[in-house]
Amino acid sequence: MKREMKVLNFGSLNYDYVYAVDHILLPGETQSSRQRQKFLGGKGFNQSIALARAGACVCQAGTVGEDGDDFLKICGRDHVDIRHVRKTEGPSGHTVIQVDQDGQNSILLYGGSNREQKKEHIDEVILDFSPGDMILLQNEINCLDYIIERAYKRGMKIVLNPSPCDHNLEICDLGKVSLFLINEVEGEQLTGKRGPEEILDKMKEKYPKADVVLTLGEKGSVYQCGGSRIARESFSVKAVDTTAAGDTYTGYFIAGILQEMLPEDILERSSAAAALAVTKKGAVDSIPYAKDVLDFLEREKNL
Ligand code: RIB
Repeated sequence: MKREMKVLNFGSLNYDYVYAVDHILLPGETQSSRQRQKFLGGKGFNQSIALARAGACVCQAGTVGEDGDDFLKICGRDHVDIRHVRKTEGPSGHTVIQVDQDGQNSILLYGGSNREQKKEHIDEVILDFSPGDMILLQNEINCLDYIIERAYKRGMKIVLNPSPCDHNLEICDLGKVSLFLINEVEGEQLTGKRGPEEILDKMKEKYPKADVVLTLGEKGSVYQCGGSRIARESFSVKAVDTTAAGDTYTGYFIAGILQEMLPEDILERSSAAAALAVTKKGAVDSIPYAKDVLDFLEREKNL
């Protein structure tokens, strides 16, 4: 009998403090916000919740601070396995997010407990998985380079959403990644190229063994898999808050792979899930369940 592939998501968990602003602050400017709300987020956490809401089994690993019980509660409700989430002294990670009137955001990150990953814990977590299992990573925790090394040695399939794309990635061996999920800005930072075609060509040249998903916001997304490219338009919706739209897409995309869906269907469902996410405020709060995504797709087809 074929063994079911397990997914480990080793990533960040953040409290998001979201401020409604008229426009994103300019350098030196002071502005009064219209509202402040606190949500659960973090790229790692959002992607685990999206995977779970898409119907996949996922194990979250990472570190929360003394104040981090809220994350564990939601994981319990959404059936995310948290046996590898550690609690440390001090605060959890948090962000300050400005959201403007068009739903666009700007995010300031404070690592907190996300920067407390320890090599012994990483070794223990990786040993709990088998060759052929998948590990999903982002770039909001320390020791990313070490996790990639250990997971690769264990024979795991490495999926990377290199976000935020910063100098931490320079010490990581990205040649060990099997699948990248990037947006256009990250694509530009990784390749030095502009435009979807140019970015994808360069990714193929730099990482010949890796597949790539390039998301293009309102312009859709492209999946470069082996020698082929499949493109998909995005759905047109009224954006309220774009936070976690990319994470929703990523979670649904990986879930689609695990559920052995056809690539075209994976792209369609992931785009629909991301579209629904931008119509609601917050990160985790905005991630739809598979049933809502299906209903949305039905409505779109009947239009
Ligand atoms: O991708 C959105 C996420 O980025 C937010 O939830 C915030 O925590 C930051 O990690």
